[in-house]
Amino acid sequence: MAINITVDNLKIPKHIAIIMDGNGRWAKSRGLPRIAGHREGAKSVRKIIKKSSKIGVEYLTLYSFSIENWKRSDSEISGLMGLLRRYLKSEIVELHGNNVRFKVIGVRDNLDNDIVRLIEDAENMTERNTGLTLILALSYGGRQEIVAAVRNIAKSAELGLIKSAAVDADVFAAYLDTAGIPDPDLLIRTSGEQRISNFLLWQLAYAELYFTNKFWPEFNEDDLIMAIENFQNRDRRFGATANDSK
Ligand code: IPE
Ligand code: IPE
Ligand code: MG
Repeated sequence: MAINITVDNLKIPKHIAIIMDGNGRWAKSRGLPRIAGHREGAKSVRKIIKKSSKIGVEYLTLYSFSIENWKRSDSEISGLMGLLRRYLKSEIVELHGNNVRFKVIGVRDNLDNDIVRLIEDAENMTERNTGLTLILALSYGGRQEIVAAVRNIAKSAELGLIKSAAVDADVFAAYLDTAGIPDPDLLIRTSGEQRISNFLLWQLAYAELYFTNKFWPEFNEDDLIMAIENFQNRDRRFGATANDSK
């Protein structure tokens, strides 16, 4: 049954980031293989993208595969990559039709060549779309992203393109995979775990955190609205005092 909640349309978070966790446990609790959980999780992905787009979320970042997830069994990894391949082949045209701009962050070198090509095609095809920006974090690690940014800044300095004194937070952020994307306002993690797991370490500095016990395959449109409603009741102070009028 649909829960009738009215969200304050003026306070829709501009950027929602989600750690989509609990696919394996969802499957296990039903006596199914882990991959069945990932398959079901892909259905939640579709629902949440559609709903986010509809209510005017501007950026949605989905943690789909972490750098550390390469430690999983070969069979789980190939199952996940198979799902990703299928997703990229079957969904991008529809996303494009819905004016969604598609982007991927993370270390592409680790992905199979055909997947990298599918990602590039999808990014190019949707580059000029003006609706929801959908960002998949794939083979992504926050620390690795920060280290890569530091390395590139050092390289620019070696080449005399930048002075060390010119490096500030804005310059630094421009070297991250998320350059040009505003920081997340709301981070949602499903499955009851309350940790960041190397996700968007720099960008989450002032995000509101929301945890739910639901496993990702169970997370639906109403759960998203509930998380947003919860967000709307937070008092975001960014270090200032409430009602600061400077
Ligand atoms: C999240 O679900 C999906 C990925 C990390 C790829 P998990 O696979 O981590 O599921 P649990 O945490 O084992 O239940
Ligand atoms: C985080 O979930 C990564 C993704 C959801 C893609 P994990 O299941 O890998 O995180 P840990 O191992 O519980 O911290
Ligand atoms: Mg997990």
